[in-house]
Amino acid sequence: MKATAVARSNIALAKYWGKRDVPGNVPATPSLSVTLAGLSTRTTVAFDERGTDDVFVLGGVEVTGEPRARVIAVLDEVRRLAGVAHRARVDSANDFPTASGLASSASGFAALVHAAAAAAGVELSLAATSRMARRASASAARSVRGGFVSLGTGQDEADDPAAEVVAPETHWDLSVVVAAVTLDPKGTSSTTGMRHCRDTSPYYSAWLADAPKVFAEVRRAVLARDLEALGVAAEASALRMHACMMASAPALLYFQAATMTLLSEVRALRARGVGAWATIDAGPHVKVLVARADEARVAAALAPHAARVIVAHPGPGVELA
Ligand code: DP6
Repeated sequence: MKATAVARSNIALAKYWGKRDVPGNVPATPSLSVTLAGLSTRTTVAFDERGTDDVFVLGGVEVTGEPRARVIAVLDEVRRLAGVAHRARVDSANDFPTASGLASSASGFAALVHAAAAAAGVELSLAATSRMARRASASAARSVRGGFVSLGTGQDEADDPAAEVVAPETHWDLSVVVAAVTLDPKGTSSTTGMRHCRDTSPYYSAWLADAPKVFAEVRRAVLARDLEALGVAAEASALRMHACMMASAPALLYFQAATMTLLSEVRALRARGVGAWATIDAGPHVKVLVARADEARVAAALAPHAARVIVAHPGPGVELA
């Protein structure tokens, strides 16, 4: 009763930020992301009938508290489907900094669900895998699938949406230059930040009203392989989400000084004729969308302002190792 799965992180081009008021962690905004090769989590789940407790090890260190509780919730769901009570050992490792805004929860929960189901002998469709990953962390629903992936808000899908492939990873050889500002863990989790934004930001309802329009534009641009249209829409999605966060009370401010420096650098690149557009998640890091031919010069331009630069490309969905 042991299996290993590998899943890749994803970066949302149209952001999910906010939850609907229904059970099961259903997003309030439709999102569209690209799954990235090279930012991966490898997770082994071993159920043991003699085990006395669930153990979660991340990067060689045993983890307790809230992160472990979220892992156990997934294990419980799988145990219920499999009709077993065995405790499990979960061994997970990222090949990029954990909890740094580089969406390790997305690849982490996608890999966990896939490995746990396989280890327990439960056959799950990709849609069912994606739904289970969504309940753990909604962005993880998208990492179950490869390439360009959307996740809806569920109204017409019995409030239980699964991620869908908008276009496979072979559709568009886009580059994402990730400029990590710091390797420290972030301050406020997405889940907490979303709740705070909903409860205190006067811009929250405007964000919810606008997000589907930006999503439609991102989707159209991805299907048309139109980098400029995608870049403009993706930057709008990210900056409007951050405007909503910054308007919360007290303000939810994920930007650091280097975040602004990197944003300025991206604008300077554009002024020099390089097609580069930025997106930022619930952390200070700046991820830049560029054509493959420009990735080296953009990475070189961002490197002096970043703790680390990673160049990533569209990658596959979750798979057993
Ligand atoms: C800013 O998926 O981490 O990265 O469902 O509460 O676990 P939970 O939130 P999570 O939120 C991701 C937010 C985002 C945008 C995105 O990935 O769409």
